[in-house]
Amino acid sequence: MMITVVGTGYVGTTTTVALAMLGHTVCGVDVDPVKVRALQSGSLPIFEEGLEDALRRETAAGRLRFTCDLGQALPGCDVIMLAVGTPPDEDGSANLRALEEVSRQLGRLLQPKAHGRPPVIAIKSTVPVGTGERVRGWLLQEMILRGLHIPFEMASNPEFLREGRALHDAMHPDRVVVGADTPGAANVMKQMYLPLQAPLLLTSIRDAEMIKYASNAFLATKISFMNELARLCERVGANIQQVAQGMGFDARINPHFLQAGIGYGGSCFPKDVQALQALAAQSGLTLQILQAVEAVNASQPGWFLQKVKHVLGSLNGQHITVLGLTFKPGTDDIRESPAIPILKHLEEQGAQITAFDPQGMAAMKQRFPNVTYASTLQESLRDADAVLLLTEWKEVVEHDWGASWSELRQPIVFDGRNVLDSAQMRAWGYQYYGVARPS
Ligand code: UDX
Repeated sequence: MMITVVGTGYVGTTTTVALAMLGHTVCGVDVDPVKVRALQSGSLPIFEEGLEDALRRETAAGRLRFTCDLGQALPGCDVIMLAVGTPPDEDGSANLRALEEVSRQLGRLLQPKAHGRPPVIAIKSTVPVGTGERVRGWLLQEMILRGLHIPFEMASNPEFLREGRALHDAMHPDRVVVGADTPGAANVMKQMYLPLQAPLLLTSIRDAEMIKYASNAFLATKISFMNELARLCERVGANIQQVAQGMGFDARINPHFLQAGIGYGGSCFPKDVQALQALAAQSGLTLQILQAVEAVNASQPGWFLQKVKHVLGSLNGQHITVLGLTFKPGTDDIRESPAIPILKHLEEQGAQITAFDPQGMAAMKQRFPNVTYASTLQESLRDADAVLLLTEWKEVVEHDWGASWSELRQPIVFDGRNVLDSAQMRAWGYQYYGVARPS
């Protein structure tokens, strides 16, 4: 099939590569010439394991190309995927300006196909329920202005990939969700994903739009539930990891996304939890559970810092080492990372901060220029009064903590992700504090 993907952000770029790997001929389109030139020369503007190699392979094989010229990418297309950003507006609702712009451009640029089916326009961006119809409306308005009607069909095809595992998730999804308004569009999308051999759910466009938000909001709910429970576990002397393990054996609960810590971040959960609430508000409803999910998440870094202050007393002048800045390992993304409010608070309290992260330091340096960024993990530990582990990077988890003990001025570790071996750390002489992990 011939496929055009509009928008080459995280989701768009991964989609172009994955579809090319499935054997389709794919063109990625973006308005940013710098980004397009980089992609054309086989370099990714983001850090994502395995994606750059695959991008180069697929480009070399002639299945993948990139352009700024949407008109040039459209002739003969079977599917046009829209993967532009939908960032939050001030009220939390998804901003659809980029989507409207692209839809109107399509309405102006689409040409009648000489042969074959009309193209399917599939929305991959995360969008509020009802957006499929709005996109169709924008396209039709532009076509009316041109005085012609070019047939096209609409679909919604939300993406569930995780950063750090983007290509793996795109190639091995738990499910593919396709919302389509005609059996023809459903069939084209089904054919496109056939080589994936993944479970495929066909729904209405509105259902598909809602499934994406509902999935992310539910995962965020699991995390906030466990984080709140961790606060109680700490009070009553229970171990949240044992509790999670015991819960996870129940197939109705499952063991995933039950890790308590310092809260969720990233470009999806915070934005989508807000957007779903904004959608509810527009419909005259309040989603009380999601309000609580957001509130727990917003206060989790502060709750973690309270423990730090309880042990260290005043932070003024203390040398704090922060390990991990990205919102999760395997990415250079610091968007909505819990490390941001934690660094802010440490600075406000007068702490002297040294940070280390395998990928996130360049971005964090822009926001926190007064923090010292160490070039190695070992160097970051030198003379620390306490270590705050904020992202569970492999390098941090597998570090030789036994050998580092003497580097620190005070061997105190606050493990915000519960990833170090608490018994071993204590045996090495560390004062170790996890999240609801009593000694
Ligand atoms: C998420 C969804 O998982 C994905 O399906 C969707 O397409 C985009 O949003 P992502 O944001 O890349 O993906 O990361 P994810 O692995 O889901 O983690 C999100 C945040 O939750 C991270 O900050 C992570 O540290 C945190 N988290 C995750 C927990 O605190 N506890 C857990 O048990 C799991």
